[in-house]
Amino acid sequence: MCGIIGYAGRHQAAELLLQGLGTLEYRGYDSAGIAVVGSDGNISVRKRVGKLSNLQTALNGDIPEGRLGIGHTRWATHGVPSDTNAHPHSDCKGDVVVVHNGIVENYQELKRELAGSGHVFESQTDSECIPHLIEDGIEKGLSLEEAVTAAAQQIRGASAVVAFSTREPDKIVGLRLGNAGGIVVGKNDEGVFLSSDLPALLPHTRSVYYLNAGEIAVLNPDGMAFRCVDGTSITKLPISIPYDPLSSAKGAYSHFMHKEIHEQPEAIVNGLRGRVSFEDQSVDLAELSLSDELIGSIDRVVFLGMGTSLHAAMIGRHWMESLARIPSEYDNSSEFRYRSPIMDSRTLVVSVCQSGETVDTLAAMELARDFGAPQVTLCNYPGTQTTRIAEHSLLLRAGLEIGVAASKTFISSLISLLLLALEVGTRRGQIGPDRRQALVSETTRLPDMLGAMLTDESVYREIARKYGRQSDFLYLGRGFGFPMAMEGALKLKEISYIHAEGYPAGEMKHGPISLIDEDMPVVAIAPSDSLRDKMQSNISEVRARGGNIIAVVSEGDTETSALADDVIAIPNVSEVINPFPVSIAMQLIAYHIGVRRGCDIDQPRNLAKTVTVE
Ligand code: G6P
Repeated sequence: MCGIIGYAGRHQAAELLLQGLGTLEYRGYDSAGIAVVGSDGNISVRKRVGKLSNLQTALNGDIPEGRLGIGHTRWATHGVPSDTNAHPHSDCKGDVVVVHNGIVENYQELKRELAGSGHVFESQTDSECIPHLIEDGIEKGLSLEEAVTAAAQQIRGASAVVAFSTREPDKIVGLRLGNAGGIVVGKNDEGVFLSSDLPALLPHTRSVYYLNAGEIAVLNPDGMAFRCVDGTSITKLPISIPYDPLSSAKGAYSHFMHKEIHEQPEAIVNGLRGRVSFEDQSVDLAELSLSDELIGSIDRVVFLGMGTSLHAAMIGRHWMESLARIPSEYDNSSEFRYRSPIMDSRTLVVSVCQSGETVDTLAAMELARDFGAPQVTLCNYPGTQTTRIAEHSLLLRAGLEIGVAASKTFISSLISLLLLALEVGTRRGQIGPDRRQALVSETTRLPDMLGAMLTDESVYREIARKYGRQSDFLYLGRGFGFPMAMEGALKLKEISYIHAEGYPAGEMKHGPISLIDEDMPVVAIAPSDSLRDKMQSNISEVRARGGNIIAVVSEGDTETSALADDVIAIPNVSEVINPFPVSIAMQLIAYHIGVRRGCDIDQPRNLAKTVTVE
């Protein structure tokens, strides 16, 4: 959470910082701010509560001049969103400025001590103690780099800190402590850039350096150097970003989320490219380098994730069990890490984390590493923190996703999870060539099928018109339909602020049925699979209690359609493949209801795309 950007170079910094913040706004939009050091050696700080557009309006063309600066977009933890609590924060004299992501866990103690020695605080944030600590270090004669290092030794908790000072106006120092989100650095002929994550850097360079926990980057207009907080110097090799994942314009779409929903056929093609053979329908995930010995030794698979990635993990579990026949389970990373899980070298841990930075997933992966469990991680970008913990990484290749609520990264996660189950199942002799060929061939037809689904959204607009004013929704599904019900409900909550629950349809009679009346629309995920008849019974039970049914059915299923008030027909695919078209339906229901209600689709209130605090 919180987006960070820094620049030192030949250009005016403010414009580049504002551009970078625009790319990073999905990390938080409670406030935005920049600080730039001018040629007179003075620092100008401009910050505003609310979205970046508020800051841009406040600037009104009065852009501070200077060729070095930092910027921040905030997701509030300590202190309400306000101008004062916005970053950058300064020391008493305005000589040191800092942007921060993470939590200073001992901030109260530090603030007390600092206030006792004369420091004056303006904000309610935990972050503000950092510039004061750095100020203390500089007063004692330390360089900026040394003062940041000294501050690192005093603050507790995971943090990413970026600072500069009037004493050394050609330097920016970045520090990463723990897993509070990354710092990535890159350089081109025009200068050196630093950011909390990749998308803000990619317009400037495709060759990047990530900071690990406990590392410091020192930037000046000509280059950068890295070292550990303990003083050890380090040589980092750049990571090349292998393809162009950038598409940061909305084009003809009103919202990034809508655009990203429409990019899913292409995301699937990218996910399959080079991994399946269109000739013999084989699967080859050579990039994972899973040895036969490892694949043969696994006796259990644990899937981990948070939010939408957890729902993908739940489906991955189904596929791993049904296709590879390995006992599998899934868990929410934040629960897994605190419940004394049992793992060993025969437990394969598969984490789904599109950002590569979700703090709970990182912690769960570190725990798994301590147990010696082999790990595969699914991530959208190379080089991120998750890819450095897991020995095996599978890139999602979804391209840039700007909408805060995940859409195409979900479908790309599904493709990767399906291929993983097919690869493991084939190599363990559980999937014969006929089954594999049938599934791969169906998967390769998905881009066309999903593309066709996206040509007409009138049914979703009509559902939004009919039900957009309701305040509660229930989503029901069985088998693969259960995680999809969870995902559908999550999307609706995120995008439209309507309370929604996803339930296993079989659980309905154990409680949720008491909520059903004419004001509780029920989305029933009932494609023509082995559980369709059971879903039909559940639909009838809802109808008998006056509930309105929106049924997601396979094309041509007149029987289930006849039980529903509204019908969304999806392509007729095999049971294993159903999550793909269902997922488009879930996304479009939420999207059109959100639009109808006038919600902020791409930046829903209180959310952030990358969750780097617990
Ligand atoms: C946040 C985002 C979700 C995302 C989840 C997990 O909650 O708003 O869209 O699914 O984090 O993110 P990850 O990066 O771990 O996949």
